[in-house]
Order: sequence, then structure tokens, then C-alpha cells
Amino acid sequence: MSAPGRPKRESSLGEEVAQRPEGRPSGAPNRPKRESSPGEEVAKRPEGRPSGAPNRPKRESSPGEEVAKRPEGRPSGAPLDQEAQDSHWMAQALAQADTVMNLTTPNPRVGCVIVRHGECLGAGATQQAGGPHAEIMALRDAKARGHDLAGSTFYVTLEPCSHYGRTPPCVDAVIAARPARVVVALTDPNPQVGGRGLKRLREAGIEVVQGVASEAALAQNPGFVGRMTRGTPWLWLKLAGSIDGRSALHNGVSQWITGAAARQDGHLWRARACAVLTGIGTVLADDPQLTPRQGRILRLPRKIVLDSRLRLPVDARLLDGTPTWVFTTERAPPRDAELAHRHAEVVRLPAGNDGRLDLSAVMRWLGEHDINEIHAEAGPRLSGALLQAGVVDELLVYQAPLLLGDAQPMAQLPARDTLPEGAAFEFIDVGQVGADLRLRARHAERWSALRRAIAV
Ligand SMILES: NC(=O)c1ccc[n+]([C@@H]2O[C@H](COP(=O)([O-])OP(=O)(O)OC[C@H]3O[C@@H](n4cnc5c(N)ncnc54)[C@H](OP(=O)(O)O)[C@@H]3O)[C@@H](O)[C@H]2O)c1
Repeated sequence: MSAPGRPKRESSLGEEVAQRPEGRPSGAPNRPKRESSPGEEVAKRPEGRPSGAPNRPKRESSPGEEVAKRPEGRPSGAPLDQEAQDSHWMAQALAQADTVMNLTTPNPRVGCVIVRHGECLGAGATQQAGGPHAEIMALRDAKARGHDLAGSTFYVTLEPCSHYGRTPPCVDAVIAARPARVVVALTDPNPQVGGRGLKRLREAGIEVVQGVASEAALAQNPGFVGRMTRGTPWLWLKLAGSIDGRSALHNGVSQWITGAAARQDGHLWRARACAVLTGIGTVLADDPQLTPRQGRILRLPRKIVLDSRLRLPVDARLLDGTPTWVFTTERAPPRDAELAHRHAEVVRLPAGNDGRLDLSAVMRWLGEHDINEIHAEAGPRLSGALLQAGVVDELLVYQAPLLLGDAQPMAQLPARDTLPEGAAFEFIDVGQVGADLRLRARHAERWSALRRAIAV
């Protein structure tokens, strides 16, 4: 829905364009002609196994599809030893989980394959909240093919659940299938239940192996693990700018710094996240929609606006019926009812010392409200503030081969007198998207803390 009376133009967030401003060559289409696999567009990806980024699935499948692709048998050639077999089949289970990256929130993405004598008997992945978990999907798949699973091995990317939640405990169904072994990547990070499922399996006489490909499984679920262990979501901050780190000209013109392919790639990340977060400065300047418009859109992420003075216009385009949280301070004007009519819930939190929202408090609130992963896409002020507040887990940076000179930074940060002792972020993926670079960097200490929390 477009806001009446507002100029339509391409925003720096890769939104729709009606009137193209000058700056970047105009030939590039805003949308691709076909659904392209982002894997085709990112030219170079140095990491061995990508880490759960939305550009992984090679094949687009429809949301209702239950089993994405049944894993093949083990590779031909010399027989694999047990460890190599476990790695091979766990990679297949991770591939199953990959197919539901945009679906399971607030539950983790989990994949399962059931194997006997080098043959995959069943495979599946966790469905949307309230739906069956990965083990149940794999059991159903195996049953549909008439397999008896006695003596088989279950490969599951997360410990089978042992408690009644929205669904009965998976561990009971696994035990009933009489497997000889269960191999898991991660133990359940929920401190209330972690390890109980494995204990039940061992008590039933089933051999349990844990920790196979645990780092890759963690990379598929940093938000779920973060919420369970530290109480806050996993937040990646998207920044887009020139190769000299500028996000807009000195006069504010920012459109078409990065190309269409980079903007489309950014939409895939929105589709993966539980929520897309921005600042009121961007809303007032660009009137973005904040919706994902590329990739497998299996559920719409929530929208979040940080707006200390509650200036959000009721006709903002992002208020399109998608559930939205507008975070503001206790002193902001009482516009709650007016915004509620547009499906926006006003959340009032105490202000920090500068009168603005306390960003750590915002993150804690979001963790308490089942948000696993946040895609933050804001202007230089909020981007800088998020970094300063130490709540950024990952950077997703697009850089165009342009030099903008004395212009606005991607993130407004105070000047430093000395070089920091160590690098806060480490690159985990560097590649090219269209004409631009895409850099992914993870906050080293925050990632290590997550690994320590679940002993990976
Ligand atoms: N290149 C890109 O990728 C990109 C992406 C998005 C936007 N942009 C550009 O960025 C420009 C807007 O920049 P901006 O910096 O004004 O927008 P912004 O960073 O999106 O929003 C800044 C506003 O957020 C609010 N806010 C709430 N809590 C805050 C906190 N704790 N710390 C800091 N701010 C907080 C503040 O307003 P209150 O004090 O009123 O709450 C602040 O003025 C636009 O021109 C847009 O085109 C570029």
C-alpha cells in the first residue's frame, strides 16, 4: 500500500521505484526476470560449508512440500569408516534443515535422515510452529516407503525433544522405531530440557553420538541458540555503500549506490529473519515497505521500528497489515490506539541516558517475545548506535565499486584515537553479487560465547 501524497522513488533499502533519481545507471532492473539462485550470483565463496545463509538451497521448492530432496546413498568408492559415514549423513540432515530456513520460527531449523546399511530410509525437516518436527517427518517418509527401522541410525541436527510442547516428545517416536544409534549435531540449548532427550535414548539402550558437525548446525540456528542461552536474538546489520564506506552523498542522495543484484540478495536475508528492524530516520526519509520480495517467503517477518518520540506516520507504507512493533520511550505521545488501527503495537521501554531507546533493553524484550533472528537495515545513526551498544552479531555489507569521497558513513561512530587491539569481527564469507561485493563478518567474541554456551 503506498502512502498518498508521498513521492515514490527507489529507497536505499532496495524498495520499489516509481521515479528513478539520477546517480546509478538506470538499465539495471529492480527485480530479476526469474527466481535466481543466489548461489549463482555470489561468485566466490571461500568457506567450505556455507553457514546457513539464505543463499544455500540450490533448488527452490514450494512451501507445502514436505520432503525437499531425499539424500542419495553414501558416495561410491572405498567403504567409509564410521566417522566419515556420520559426517556424510549429518551433512544430508543439515541439507534437510536448509530447506526450512525461512519457515520454522520461533522453533529451530532441524533436519533428520534415517539410514541403514548406507541407504537413506527416510528424511525430513521441522515444519512451521505447531507442525511436526524433523524426526516425525523422517519417520513418516520412511513409513510411507514401507521401511522397518529396527537397527537403523537416526541423524538429527538437534537433540530430539523430550517434553510436551505444541507437539508430543519426538524422543518417544524415535525409541519406538528401535534404532541402533542416534547421531546428533547439537544438544538442545534450552537449559530446562538440554540433555534429557539423549538420556532417554541411552536408557532405552540406543547408542548416542553427539557433536557431529555441531558448528554447522549452530550456524543454522544462531538465533534460537542465542535466545535460549543469552536471552537475546541474533542480529545481523545490513550495510550498503561505496567501496570507501559511504552510504550516501553529502547531500543525502543514496539511491543506486549498490546494484539490483545486491538489493535482491538483501531481500533473501529479510525472508530468513524473524523480524526486520529499522530506525524512524529511514522511515521518514524513504518510506520503505520492509517486506522480503525475493526467495522463499514462507512467512512474513515482523517489522520493527525504533522511534523514541513516536513520529511514525499512520500512512507509512510499512504499515500494510503485517504485525509491527514500534518501540518508543515512556515519554512519547499517546498515539497507541491510532497505530493499533494499522496493526502496529506500541512497545514502551525506558529511555537510555541520551533520551533514546536503550538498545540492549530492546534486544532483551525481543528475546522474551520469541524473536530468534533480526535483520537490521537502518541509516547511519541507528546502525552506529547498534554497533556502539554491542548488540550486533554479524555484519552483512554490500559495497559498490564507487568512491563517494566526503559523504555520509555507513554507520555513525565516534572517532578513535588508537587502533583497537584485536578485530571485533571476522570475515566468514566474501563474494561478489552482480557488480558489488558482499561481505559477511561475524562478531568473534559473541560467536565464541555462543559456542561456549553449548560446548561446541
Ligand atoms: N545505505 C543503506 O543501506 C541505508 C539503509 C537505510 C537507510 N539509509 C539512509 O539513511 C538515511 C536515514 O538515516 P538516519 O540515520 O536518520 O536513520 P536511521 O538510522 O534509520 O534512524 C535514526 C533514528 O532512529 C531513532 N532511534 C531510536 N532509538 C535510537 C537509539 N538508541 N540510537 C540511535 N537512534 C535511535 C532516532 O530517532 P528518535 O530519537 O526520534 O527515536 C534516530 O534519529 C536515509 O537517507 C536513508 O536513505 C541508508
